[in-house]
Amino acid sequence: MNAMNPFLEAAIAMCEEAGAIHARYLHQEQVISEKGVGDLVTEVDRRAEAAIIERLRALFPDHAILAEESGRHAAGEDYIWYVDPLDGTTNYAHGFPAFCVSIALLHRGRVEVAAVHAVALGELFTAARGEGAWRNGRPIRVSRVPDIARSLVATGFSPSVREDGHNIAEFVAFLHRAQAVRRPGSAALDLAFVACGRLDGFWEYRLAPWDVAAGSLLVTEAGGVVTQIDGTAFDPAGRAILASNGLVHEEMRQVLATTPNRHPHTVS
Ligand code: 2AM
Ligand code: CA
Repeated sequence: MNAMNPFLEAAIAMCEEAGAIHARYLHQEQVISEKGVGDLVTEVDRRAEAAIIERLRALFPDHAILAEESGRHAAGEDYIWYVDPLDGTTNYAHGFPAFCVSIALLHRGRVEVAAVHAVALGELFTAARGEGAWRNGRPIRVSRVPDIARSLVATGFSPSVREDGHNIAEFVAFLHRAQAVRRPGSAALDLAFVACGRLDGFWEYRLAPWDVAAGSLLVTEAGGVVTQIDGTAFDPAGRAILASNGLVHEEMRQVLATTPNRHPHTVS
């Protein structure tokens, strides 16, 4: 892996620090869950994010930061770090091991390095633009599954699904078409799973830039394709994502395009 890239090295160190915080409080979470899951998860989010931001500020004082809990920390505009200190919060609260920390560095709007660390799985996914993607230091590639019928695909739902039912029609459409559908609950980790070939495709609406920035580079550096839902160029701020091994991309795009679109997907 490219240990000489100082940005990637920093992202890895920050992921490891956040992962240690996840691991430390995961045990407590299960013990006190009746008293206040939400509060403790918020505390874990905040502690992990504070540790990351403190390190970023010290290492790269002229870089901007956009983080889930604390929003934007302005600085120079060329470099910006997207930080999700705990992606898959609901999973974390239940001790379901699909959660991670996700960190990406963008340079003039383009993701340059990415690190996603799922401490409960013992996995660190990394990528650097033009250099490749790795799982625990070993190169990863997307799958070679050629069609949806033989694909394991995944999606996710924002909590607003309870009120508006967004993405349910799409979910059902893929239940009919794919080999199977999963909804693991951490967009960043879902993208890492596309990158290493465990999933053949993933789509989701109503995401934030910190959910998808790192994962998008993992997928493209592993040989996959990432676009918006309609197949146009990916935009980390675009709220929605379609990621795949490339081979099933067009087929997935068509399924999504032909599903009755009863809900505005860009509204949070
Ligand atoms: P989180 O766990 O950090 O909230 C679940 O399908 C995915 O959507 C997770 O990556 C989750 O991230 C994200 N998510 C849930 N609610 C969200 C919201 N209101 N805005 C953006 N992302 C959200
Ligand atoms: Ca998130």
